[in-house]
Amino acid sequence: MSEGKVITCRAAVAWKPQEPFKIEEIQVDPPKAGEVRVKVIHTGICHSDVSACSGKFIGVQFPVVVGHEASGIVESVGDGVENFKTGDHVITLFLPQCNKCRVCQKGNSNACLEFMGAQIRGVMPDGTSRISCRGETLYTFVGCSTFAEYTVVSEMNLAKINTNAPMEKVCLLSCGISTGYGSAVNTAGVTKGSTVAVWGLGTLGLAAIMGSKNAGATTIIGVDINPEKFKLAGELGATDFVNPKELTEPVEKYLMEKYGGAIDYTIECVGQVATMTQAFESCALGNGVCVLVGVADVTALLNISPASFLLGKVLKGCLFGSYKSKDAIPQLVEDFMNNKFNIDKFITHSLKLDDVNEGFDMLKSGKSIRSIINF
Ligand SMILES: NC(=O)c1ccc[n+]([C@@H]2O[C@H](COP(=O)([O-])OP(=O)(O)OC[C@H]3O[C@@H](n4cnc5c(N)ncnc54)[C@H](O)[C@@H]3O)[C@@H](O)[C@H]2O)c1
Ligand SMILES: [Zn+2]
Ligand SMILES: [Zn+2]
Repeated sequence: MSEGKVITCRAAVAWKPQEPFKIEEIQVDPPKAGEVRVKVIHTGICHSDVSACSGKFIGVQFPVVVGHEASGIVESVGDGVENFKTGDHVITLFLPQCNKCRVCQKGNSNACLEFMGAQIRGVMPDGTSRISCRGETLYTFVGCSTFAEYTVVSEMNLAKINTNAPMEKVCLLSCGISTGYGSAVNTAGVTKGSTVAVWGLGTLGLAAIMGSKNAGATTIIGVDINPEKFKLAGELGATDFVNPKELTEPVEKYLMEKYGGAIDYTIECVGQVATMTQAFESCALGNGVCVLVGVADVTALLNISPASFLLGKVLKGCLFGSYKSKDAIPQLVEDFMNNKFNIDKFITHSLKLDDVNEGFDMLKSGKSIRSIINF
């Protein structure tokens, strides 16, 4: 029985920004009050993990264990935890749902204020860490730190799932697929017969395309500088494809002309100021809605004309596809099991923890959509 004891296990540690991970033995303390220790079973590699290791992501402190797209099994729970028990199948949530803060108590937003608290500073809600390596404190990433065989999370960063759900697939509901899908069906509110354009055809953008299709959009434009992404985008619902590198004019001008200035929804899933601006410029005057999903460098600023707002354009952004994280996950798992959307097509590689640097390189070079690390 490991309950109540420190667990020594393997993890990928990022000691410094922009350096490869080192696979280390780390110590994982028992969970304190309101916390849960999870045996990680599968974890995806998301672009936010890559950005976190670049050192330009909001709040990330080093040395850190990143990773947040995980499924696992509860090993033990801390005092006062009533909704989880040893053996439960769970999914980690980078966006907490505390159910206590002002935002959680209102129905109209999912941006739990705990996200911007201790979590963004890389520690547990009590301000300390549960993970260390050779006596040195390691920081957590967005409350999850799943590139490790075990992790401790606050119960507000955890959702219980159906034990029949395939854990090697539904781990992707903990971030990439839910966020992209929700950005279309919730944040943008894509309607039947509409035209949608999506920038960036990684997991987030592809899931936005899948959501747009399920919401009844009839024209779905995939925009990416890597044309190898177009085939899968087409399989998931994209009808038109644009490679900005092949154009002789700016992509927003091309889209305005080709679609008569009538793109109802634009969704940015890259994380660069340039593509965010293109997406905003490309949505329709009068009623166009632009949704920012990509995460830009912490110092980035947008430069847009306020007149666009007077002329009816809407600019929004979302975390986790505007889903209230804990409430939404069980239903998303059921929806996947009832074939309402696809996960299999997103999983291009299966890796071991030792291959994590290779997994990062494949995501950065566009060779993978999602690599899953299997423990
Ligand atoms: N808002 C949220 O809650 C949330 C959650 C998870 C991830 N994200 C962010 O979403 C973004 C996408 O994540 P991902 O895992 O799908 O990434 P990814 O690396 O798999 O995909 C990014 C895609 O963008 C394309 N791209 C790069 N430059 C481009 C350009 N100039 N024009 C068009 N396409 C371009 C790449 O070729 C690639 O296909 C990241 O910024 C990530 O941090 C946000
Ligand atoms: Zn909250
Ligand atoms: Zn993510």
